[in-house]
Amino acid sequence: MDVSEVHRIAVTIIEYGVLLFSFLLGIGVLALFVMYLVDKTQTTHTIRRNYPVVGRFRYLFEHLGEFFRQYFFAMDREELPFNRAERSWVYRAAKQVDTTVAFGSTRPLDHEGDIIFLNSPFPTLDEDAVEPKPVTIGEGSARRPYTTSSILNVSGMSYGAISRPAVLALSSGAREAGIWMNTGEGGLSPYHLEGGCDIVFQIGTAKYGVRDEQGKLDDEKLKAIAAHEQVRMFEIKMSQGAKPGKGGILPGEKVTEEIAGIRHIGIGEDSISPNGHVDIRSVGDLLDMIARVREVTGKPVGFKTVVGQLSFFEDLFEEIHSRGLASAPDFITIDSADGGTGAAPQALIDYVGMPLRESLPIVIDLLHEYGLRERIKVIASGKLINPGKVAWALGVGADFCVSARGFMFALGCIQALQCNKNTCPTGITTHNKELQKGLVPAEKSKRVAAYAARVAYGVGIIAHSCGVAEPRGLQRQHMRVIESSEKSHGMLELDPIPELRPELADKLRNAAGQ
Ligand SMILES: Cc1cc2nc3c(=O)[nH]c(=O)nc-3n(C[C@H](O)[C@H](O)[C@H](O)COP(=O)(O)O)c2cc1C
Repeated sequence: MDVSEVHRIAVTIIEYGVLLFSFLLGIGVLALFVMYLVDKTQTTHTIRRNYPVVGRFRYLFEHLGEFFRQYFFAMDREELPFNRAERSWVYRAAKQVDTTVAFGSTRPLDHEGDIIFLNSPFPTLDEDAVEPKPVTIGEGSARRPYTTSSILNVSGMSYGAISRPAVLALSSGAREAGIWMNTGEGGLSPYHLEGGCDIVFQIGTAKYGVRDEQGKLDDEKLKAIAAHEQVRMFEIKMSQGAKPGKGGILPGEKVTEEIAGIRHIGIGEDSISPNGHVDIRSVGDLLDMIARVREVTGKPVGFKTVVGQLSFFEDLFEEIHSRGLASAPDFITIDSADGGTGAAPQALIDYVGMPLRESLPIVIDLLHEYGLRERIKVIASGKLINPGKVAWALGVGADFCVSARGFMFALGCIQALQCNKNTCPTGITTHNKELQKGLVPAEKSKRVAAYAARVAYGVGIIAHSCGVAEPRGLQRQHMRVIESSEKSHGMLELDPIPELRPELADKLRNAAGQ
């Protein structure tokens, strides 16, 4: 090939390049012009009508912001529902990498209302530390009481709200860690059983998995569930923190053939549970239902609720005393108003129910007042994802803690806030097979187990610092609420300096006179 030939080919390529570029440019300009006309003439979106074409970026950035602000803009302790410091602790614990931090705490230690623990001058020595002691639920009331020493367990998330690989990873990880997993209100799936962990079966307001044709509780189905050795307890879901007074909401796009089969509903139909149990309309009905489920299954029975009107507990405890202690629930799960959910109306998630911080001490105190503290075990939930929070709940008086979102983080959740769609980027709350590919149960189950173990270990560290040999030895006296006020200029408000003891006053006066 001679030089003129090369030159000719080069010129042809450049000519075609320029032609292609002009063509693409023309298409681009035409597309912008069409967008301009569409935006200018449409009447639905104000911003697009006032700022044609460029206004469209707002929607794009708003959407992308959900994913990216956590990386670029939010400070360590800033985000909600969980900030980066909390989440990254879980990621590191689950991956079994170093969870120590350097230089100083990013947790403001003068933040009013926060808790600090009171260290002992004589911390527990390693050789004096003991394993968490076992607790028995349903002793003397259920034919098959349940004993476990677990600290943090997996809170209810239905198969439906979360995916098949997520359920499998959680159930396998829970078995490895020796903790229980709650089914949530969507019934018992083969994947709950496959992992081999202890299971708490939740009876939701739609009674999925144990309902008859009319949606009422079916004793035969209940018996069949209880026949599984792994199913250790039954929990009647009265309400959950994120949506008190509203039943489960599973959007139709997440109701696959299998999920529809387990729940006995139509494929692709929205799965909406009633706001409350149609057959539990009073404290008496609740105790009747507890007695019935306990009788049919032989296993401990309790209920889950977010605390609202306190008269409910007073009425319930009065009724228990009039029927006898055997009628009491074996446990109560107190969920926090800031708990998580697959989907909830914003009106409820933002405004209804008491946060655990307030409700847990109230319920524990009422149980003491009514002499029921020993009889009824207490399970606490709501943002208890780090050792400090779990230690607080145990110290206030809970027997166990459970978490949903902590274990989701252990599975790799990035807080993309997509649980109510079928688009979870980490495969946890989607039934899209492509998105599920990233969630490998064999790998993630190890993280679930490691996370549970590291939380228990972390609570132990706090207990030891307070001079207590094991996590359940923590008590309220080991904690202090940080108060700030105008008077103390935002510093910790210290107790006033006490008066000198009278017996010492004389002694000192005499000594000074000598
Ligand atoms: C995806 C998802 C699904 C849930 N499904 C249920 C459910 O079926 N039944 C229930 O009682 N609570 C359900 N919850 C609430 C949790 O069990 C728990 O009470 C709440 O999230 C507070 O715990 P956390 O702050 O550790 O997440 C769900 C929560 C999430 C995030």
